[in-house]
Amino acid sequence: MSTEPSKIATTEFTNPNLEVLYNEEQISERIKSLGTQITSDYSGKELVLVGVLKGSCIFMADLMRSIDLNLTIDFMAVSSYKDGTRSTGDVEILKDLSNPIRGKHVIVVEDIVDTGLTLSRLLEILGSRGAASIRLASFLDKPEPRIKTELKIDYTGFVVPNKFVVGYGLDAAGRYRNLPFIAVVVNPAEA
Ligand code: IMP
Ligand code: MG
Repeated sequence: MSTEPSKIATTEFTNPNLEVLYNEEQISERIKSLGTQITSDYSGKELVLVGVLKGSCIFMADLMRSIDLNLTIDFMAVSSYKDGTRSTGDVEILKDLSNPIRGKHVIVVEDIVDTGLTLSRLLEILGSRGAASIRLASFLDKPEPRIKTELKIDYTGFVVPNKFVVGYGLDAAGRYRNLPFIAVVVNPAEA
């Protein structure tokens, strides 16, 4: 008989440090309904979806496939400076749009709005470029830590509690973006 202790096999998706908040089915249902709403709101308009890298990549891919319109996509990458763990609102553009947005109807596609400092600054920057309209779609809304309370999220996937969440594009130090669900990290020190 083996004297080795038995090991419980866990994988990244079954990591016991993750507590599922919204599963694949709930996410897919919610995004279909956002897509239907956007399809009706932007009928006949020139729509550009602007994804904010990297966190929005999965939301962007699913959302655009649920919008039944003639549209284009573009991406931006920004780094928001943090003062400890909180963003300061200083935003540096690491990758700008590939095409002008003058005269276009823009929806900025983001993973999560927390303090709102990053998005407010980004919307300010895009606001000076002559777009016909700019709206915001955020997969998650974490309203409790909001500093920029005037920031309006036009299309929200889910409202989440004031906890660190990962998965479906959102990361903890680069990890967990590939989870097909949204989860709370139970013990952030072990993340
Ligand atoms: P804000 O400027 O505080 O709104 O910060 C927004 C950015 O911080 C988001 O785009 C995310 O990249 C990151 N962030 C905020 N909260 C979380 C979270 O719970 N999980 C993962 N990333 C988060
Ligand atoms: Mg982000």
